[in-house]
Amino acid sequence: MKNMISHNLKEKKRNKISELSTIFDSFNSNAQKLEASYKQLQDRIREIDREMAQTNECLNKKVQELNNLTMYLNSILESMYCGVVAIDIQGRIETFNRSAEKILHVKAGDVIGKNVRFALTQINGFNDLLIESLTARKKVINLKRLIELKDGNSRYIESSISILHDKDGCTTGLVEIFQDLSEIRELKGRLYSVNDLVSVGTMAACIAHEIRNPLNGIEGFASLLEREVEGDNLKLVNNIILGTKNINKIVTDLLLLARPIELNLRKCELSNILDRSLVLVSQELRKKGGKNIQLKKDYVSRKTTIICDPERLQQAFLNIILNAIQSMHEGGELTVFTRELVIGGTSGIQIGFSDTGEGISNHDMKNIFDPFFTTKTNGTGLGLVVVRKIIELHGGEVSIRSKEKKGATILLKLPCNPNRAPRAFSDAHLINYTDI
Ligand SMILES: Nc1ncnc2c1ncn2[C@@H]1O[C@H](COP(=O)(O)OP(=O)(O)O)[C@@H](O)[C@H]1O
Ligand SMILES: [Mg+2]
Repeated sequence: MKNMISHNLKEKKRNKISELSTIFDSFNSNAQKLEASYKQLQDRIREIDREMAQTNECLNKKVQELNNLTMYLNSILESMYCGVVAIDIQGRIETFNRSAEKILHVKAGDVIGKNVRFALTQINGFNDLLIESLTARKKVINLKRLIELKDGNSRYIESSISILHDKDGCTTGLVEIFQDLSEIRELKGRLYSVNDLVSVGTMAACIAHEIRNPLNGIEGFASLLEREVEGDNLKLVNNIILGTKNINKIVTDLLLLARPIELNLRKCELSNILDRSLVLVSQELRKKGGKNIQLKKDYVSRKTTIICDPERLQQAFLNIILNAIQSMHEGGELTVFTRELVIGGTSGIQIGFSDTGEGISNHDMKNIFDPFFTTKTNGTGLGLVVVRKIIELHGGEVSIRSKEKKGATILLKLPCNPNRAPRAFSDAHLINYTDI
């Protein structure tokens, strides 16, 4: 019996052990499975981490791209010549660029975030259009209008307003783009007057041409008559010839002023041109009986060569010398001098004509270069205008110094080579000259 019991116990024990071993085996295999799953999970997590890192990188890139784009658009907006004001559907100002600040004299910081109905009221006639457009959801194209700024100044602006939509087509706000036309309007005005001048010039040139043809005929016939008449009749014929010569001179000057002139530039000795002009004047003086006028020459050198149109320069010198002689009713002294002039490495020349005549009053000085300004009974008032045109065509400039009753000095500054004249030739330092 005892053996039986012991046998049973042993059997039970064995069964238990085998049961435990099975459980252990299954636990072991489950643990292995768990470990494998855990590993899989870890791999997956690592994969997800990697994917997330990639996505993050992509996202960062996108954010960076978006930032760059925003910066780019902002810089376009800020550098735009036009003013830009954008509002949302409630009327809140969201964008107000630099040009808008400049045109409207309002700081962006003072209006952004505020409602357009209350923010830009200090500018007369500006926000009405945006408000109207927002209420009616209506765009505006190129509307010109006058607005009045806070400081009382007015601006003439041209505006266009567009409606902004989101991707579903819902209205999200409005943007007004406007530009200041005040300057353009002013420029246009100036352009009209330049055009007017050009047409007046062309007209003058045509008229001058029309006058010249019959005038030459009259002078020709009068010259023929001159040989056949005597006494008082001869005097009359001579007056006709003199008259036609005067008219011819006016017409020539007018043509020179009205037309664009092409200079015939060549290398010349300045003293030759000056001397020729003086000889021509003295011949003229002698013919008329001559006044007691002393001529003095004070040239810096006989060998000053300049590139110029000698015929035109001579014409300018003649006009100046004739004026000087005409101003010395009782005779006097005319000094013609030249001085070297250097500016920015470019050589130039100063030419002076100094007379001891009646001089020019301060009042007349202001009008001296106006066309047709003359103080002489037989003057045309074109001589100095022609002088200035010729000298300026040579890249030079004319100035006059005078004291009433004490004479006048006409100063010309000329570059030796007009094609290489520095822009600021007028700033040249003048070398001593005998001031009057
Ligand atoms: N050297 C000068 N001395 C005094 N006045 C001068 C001199 N040069 C010019 N003027 C004044 O300038 C005016 C305009 O000269 P200009 O244009 O040559 O015309 P015009 O000699 O036909 O009057 C002259 O009428 C005169 O009053
Ligand atoms: Mg004159």
